[in-house]
Amino acid sequence: MPAITITRLHPSLGAEIGGVDLSRPIDAATKQALNVALGEHLALVFRGQSFTPDQYLQAAEVFGPPMRQHYSQHNMPEYPDIGLVWHRNGQRPAERWHTDHTNRERPPAATILYGVEIPPSGGGTSVANMRAAYNALPETEQARLAGLSTVNRLDAHHPDTRAEDREKFDIPIVHPMVRTHPVHGSRAVYFHVTKAHQIVGMTPEGSSAYMNDLLERMIKPEITYHHAWRKGDVLVIDDRATMHRAHGDYDRSQSRVLWRIIAEGDRPVLV
Ligand SMILES: [Fe+2]
Repeated sequence: MPAITITRLHPSLGAEIGGVDLSRPIDAATKQALNVALGEHLALVFRGQSFTPDQYLQAAEVFGPPMRQHYSQHNMPEYPDIGLVWHRNGQRPAERWHTDHTNRERPPAATILYGVEIPPSGGGTSVANMRAAYNALPETEQARLAGLSTVNRLDAHHPDTRAEDREKFDIPIVHPMVRTHPVHGSRAVYFHVTKAHQIVGMTPEGSSAYMNDLLERMIKPEITYHHAWRKGDVLVIDDRATMHRAHGDYDRSQSRVLWRIIAEGDRPVLV
């Protein structure tokens, strides 16, 4: 058995993984254990990691093949599968609850973030357990959501999106609003409030109002893990059963740099 340790970080989700140096080759048994742990705990934290970009891309393969990210203006020069999360290149922290890249036919299984420069306070990342959120809904609403699907495209309100990215990635794709986790087998609520331009059969306005109302009712502190970053942390977020958000509550004269990789998953299905 792989010599890894798993320590829970919050009653609902999140676990710190010990005994793994992600910069080194990961054997098949460890890879399997990490994927099972991700499905179970939904957010994995590895402390004290250190990578070159090539090593980081190799590490991400544990959770799936790295996918091209669609805001190419923020990609690392010469490493187009690593996105730079960095306010100094004009980004605003993504403070609304969301899951990543739902405009893809096979959206990411995981978002992987590596803490390169961390401000002395604030600037955390929160992750909410959308499996627990689904389980907490009344049965009638679970049944309603299970019959709904969303039409996903790029965010309408990102004016700096490059034409070439729009051409490649702004293609409508329909996903279920409840999906079955391919590893864990359980159900979770699944949507991106601004990439879902509408819920099938509803108006865009009605769809947006319903999704915002769901977020308001579902996401509570008891299902949310807050990650306070340390330099060298790797946070792996299961995009199939969580939503996440950044916190912009840090001093902008300080640098905050995360390297982001998204690892491709399966096409969402409800079974
Ligand atoms: Fe995100």
